[in-house]
Amino acid sequence: MSPASARVREFPLSASEFDEIRRLVLEHTGIALAASKRELVYSRLVRRLRRLKLDGFRAYIALLSRGETAELEQFTNAITTNLTSFFREPHHFDYLSETVLPQIERKNASTRRLRIWSAGCSTGEEAYSIAIALLEAKARFRGWDVRILATDLDSQVIATAAAGEYAIERLEKLSAARRSWFGELDGGCAVAGKELKSLVSFRRLNLLHDWPFKGSFDVIMCRNVVIYFDRSTQCALFERMAARQRASDHLFIGHSESLYKVCASYELIGKTIYRRLP
Ligand SMILES: C[S@@+](CC[C@H](N)C(=O)[O-])C[C@H]1O[C@@H](n2cnc3c(N)ncnc32)[C@H](O)[C@@H]1O
Repeated sequence: MSPASARVREFPLSASEFDEIRRLVLEHTGIALAASKRELVYSRLVRRLRRLKLDGFRAYIALLSRGETAELEQFTNAITTNLTSFFREPHHFDYLSETVLPQIERKNASTRRLRIWSAGCSTGEEAYSIAIALLEAKARFRGWDVRILATDLDSQVIATAAAGEYAIERLEKLSAARRSWFGELDGGCAVAGKELKSLVSFRRLNLLHDWPFKGSFDVIMCRNVVIYFDRSTQCALFERMAARQRASDHLFIGHSESLYKVCASYELIGKTIYRRLP
């Protein structure tokens, strides 16, 4: 017997229970799980059943359906996929440094204000990569009010991001100059330095809920997040993002994502790089 089928025997997951879990996932995260994800759902949630000493998925669904906030948080944490890395999709950061930041320097010269949002930031590598790009351009923005907002639904990844501690191997593709923005801890860990941390605010936020912040964003990175959302959720999300951007502000999305027939408020100007239309 394979380990997978042995696990299935521990807590049977019927087709109707799986469908109810898919519905709860969609409702609470926007993630539309394919019918093929039954084994993934099982392996991600079985730990919760054991921890809560429940006798099966029916009891777990009942708990979630009662709207238990603490368990809904654990549930969404278990379901999200948090793969990320520093300077992932590096052409975005090249474009940010070489084209977008010089444009912002001119465009916002009178306000001297710069706002970037890493929406779906996972464990923080994306936000700290943006922060490094800003520190590399710091001569342009001396005396400016510069902030990066970094948000994610998953409370666990937000805690990791705010701590800024990473296994040293996660930094190994960075140049020595970029690594120098991190300090070294005992036990083979690197920690984001003061300059990096002071640029970024990490907050837990469900993108489907209200956004409790004001103002517009010169740049939004929302990469490899909506890939799991259905089209109508994507449309609504990008229209809300468009409402938080001014003409010619930039939006970066993930390598397998597209705004084609999803959101007409942006024009495509590069590989998965968009500009807000007037
Ligand atoms: C694959 S990671 C992408 C991380 C980073 N943006 C990157 O491209 O490397 C996707 C992230 O989206 C987050 N996410 C999924 N649904 C979300 C939602 N409804 N609201 C906010 N974040 C969400 C997940 O928790 C996860 O950390």
